[in-house]
Amino acid sequence: MREAAPGILPTIPFDRRSKVPFHRQIYEAYRRAILEGRLRPGQRLPSTRGLSAELQISRMPVLNAFDQLLHEGYLEGRVGSGTYVKEGIPDDLGRPAEVRQTRTPPGTRTRHAPRPIRSAGDDVPPDWALLGPFRASQPALDEFPRIIWGRLVSANARNLPVELMAYGDPAGYFPLREAIAQYLRTARAVRCEADDVLIVSGSQMALQLAARSLLSPGDAVCVEEPGYRGARDALRAAGAALVPIALDEEGIDVQAIQSRGRGARLTYVTPSHQYPLGTSMSASRRLDLLEWAERNDAWILEDDYDSEYRYASRPLGALQGMGDHSRVIYLGTFSKVLFPALRVAYVVAPPELRGGLLRLREAMDIFSPTLYQVVLTDFLRDGHFARHIRRMRAIYLARRNALVESLREQVGEALAIRGADGGLHLAAFLPAEVDDRMVVRLAAEHGIAAAPLSECYAGPASRGGLILGFGGTPEHEIPSAVQRLAQAIHAVI
Ligand SMILES: Cc1ncc(COP(=O)(O)O)c(C=O)c1O
Repeated sequence: MREAAPGILPTIPFDRRSKVPFHRQIYEAYRRAILEGRLRPGQRLPSTRGLSAELQISRMPVLNAFDQLLHEGYLEGRVGSGTYVKEGIPDDLGRPAEVRQTRTPPGTRTRHAPRPIRSAGDDVPPDWALLGPFRASQPALDEFPRIIWGRLVSANARNLPVELMAYGDPAGYFPLREAIAQYLRTARAVRCEADDVLIVSGSQMALQLAARSLLSPGDAVCVEEPGYRGARDALRAAGAALVPIALDEEGIDVQAIQSRGRGARLTYVTPSHQYPLGTSMSASRRLDLLEWAERNDAWILEDDYDSEYRYASRPLGALQGMGDHSRVIYLGTFSKVLFPALRVAYVVAPPELRGGLLRLREAMDIFSPTLYQVVLTDFLRDGHFARHIRRMRAIYLARRNALVESLREQVGEALAIRGADGGLHLAAFLPAEVDDRMVVRLAAEHGIAAAPLSECYAGPASRGGLILGFGGTPEHEIPSAVQRLAQAIHAVI
């Protein structure tokens, strides 16, 4: 539905001392703005009253100009809802060639069209970034309790106290920090109080903050190999020299950190559910890593991105809660457990780092939008969050089972499944020598959004594979989607 708000006044050249009559100047200015694409089809124009007030002239020349534009088909009037730029303008005379090429054809709506989401290479958007079944990191957006959320958003938007419309605390809205601290202590065994929690706009921001405040260019940082590309990117952007460390079934190899990562200032890990392989780090490995950090005055960056969902056993407590938490920076996000476009995540950092993180956060974007922090606080406090997690566990378990079963039936031995015990994705190794990018590209042609495992390696991948998200794919769509994926796999192997 169109908004009822008045259109924005475009900047138009207007010279009250010119010999050109006012109505002609207005007509020309609007015509050019439309032809050059500065005013787009469907865009609402300001009212004639508003425009005449802005230009400080009588309404008559404005009415004349608009009449002519309406008559020539540049504009259209809708009863009771104002004047709009016509969908499909009459000619493109007078429009520069480059504008003609880049304009959207009349009637084409691009705003919500599916499009590549992120690029895997440095500049080329890859095929596997398309929306489609098995997209990694996608929660069940179709199951999100929109009615409850919508009610909370609209009630809070209507009643937001004026002080919450002003600049907010860079550390976040305090009641939300309290609610998160309570959740983390209870569900994740994190040691924290509300004061320790810093709200950020997504864990990607948290990774940037941690990297920039802890590292100097050239500092060695150990990362899981394979691991999360978003973390590698943030660490590299802060000048880190990455040291990829192999994993085994207990998690990151701490002995290798000690030998190959000598002098490292930081190790980035996903202990609860390793991204992408899905291993959970054993208790003894966690203790070894904590000891390494203690002994070397180094830091551990713990990314706890999707630990709410375990299907075989209860979720494991966080690494942060195992030690005296003085060397661990803990990150969590609402991107998986609620939805990624919310852009709310949190950091729990040792006291000595907090001031630096906060100053940097303030320098980046001052604070996160208050309205959604308030909404989220209500969502947590009123029990909707806990209910949502409980409900989603059953749904994700069904989706996971459908995927594993379909893969076994339709692809069989060609895929070795890993890490299906938790989270929203699984990893599946392809036979040695098979190029996973080729499989992914072919699968994308069938509308499947798998990601190649090789993308998760900082160095050369030891073996290709696929990352298959099941969180965002409804259970009944899984068998036919696997069938299309199987075609792509069988075409390559
Ligand atoms: C390992 C890991 N950490 C964090 C995130 C979430 O990041 P954000 O909170 O920026 O959406 C993801 C999402 O894909 C992830 O895979």
